[in-house]
Amino acid sequence: MNEEIKPNGTQFEGKEEYVKEVFTEIASYYDETNDMMSMGMIKGWHRFMMKKAGDLGSKRCLDVGTGTGEIAFLLSENAGEGGEVFGIDITPKMLEYAEIKMKDRNLPKPVVFEIGNALSLRFDNDSFDVVTSGYMLRNVTDIQRAIDEMYRVLKPGGRAVVAELSKPENRAIRFFYELYMRHRVYWLGRRYDKGKPIGGKYSPYEWLTSSVEGFPRGKEMTDKFLRAGFSEAQYFVKSMGAVNIYLGLKK
Ligand SMILES: C[S@@+](CC[C@H](N)C(=O)[O-])C[C@H]1O[C@@H](n2cnc3c(N)ncnc32)[C@H](O)[C@@H]1O
Repeated sequence: MNEEIKPNGTQFEGKEEYVKEVFTEIASYYDETNDMMSMGMIKGWHRFMMKKAGDLGSKRCLDVGTGTGEIAFLLSENAGEGGEVFGIDITPKMLEYAEIKMKDRNLPKPVVFEIGNALSLRFDNDSFDVVTSGYMLRNVTDIQRAIDEMYRVLKPGGRAVVAELSKPENRAIRFFYELYMRHRVYWLGRRYDKGKPIGGKYSPYEWLTSSVEGFPRGKEMTDKFLRAGFSEAQYFVKSMGAVNIYLGLKK
């Protein structure tokens, strides 16, 4: 592990390139490990996100940091033929898997997957009804800027729904959560990534588990939504605090 990475710091020099390498490395087994590590709960978190996104029928939606496309597929199913869904990501390999998976999904309309950066979206101001993002914010070099961009591209009346890992506030629950993260998740990840360091730094699952440390959650995160301009920001605690789902409303 390189000195420049602080154990509880989520920002470091060269982070964007590092993150891209991490997701390129794990793209082929990303969905499988996600399902195991979340004990299948990830599907419920995604369903909850759709509920918070409101009526998606014929809406224009954007999924930022779409990865292998699971959230974008749900948006498309809910938006129907009259809707339009884009999924953007900085890691081409993750998008390759999204495209492969889409062939079997029988969606009302294909998702438009494209390479793009959450920190400078190519889309116009006020152009989407709904913006979603799952588990991406820990990976960006500027969290506030990513939220500002979501706000910018949303139409007035639009919604941002963002899921991120969190930590249980209750100390007893947190004790078990940390055991689970340090042992089960870490060793499960290691079985796949073999502990291979990326760019001389963390191995992929060392990064993905440790990046929760020091990462803003709860009110600290909703404050960032308010700072971006959202008129209302709320968060919903899921799975005893392992995940938070944030909802921002643009007036
Ligand atoms: C943990 S994965 C989540 C993927 C997907 N949203 C899901 O729910 O499974 C994080 C994704 O964010 C992408 N990502 C990281 N930084 C990004 C950025 N600045 N712009 C766009 N995508 C980014 C990564 O390439 C990766 O695919």
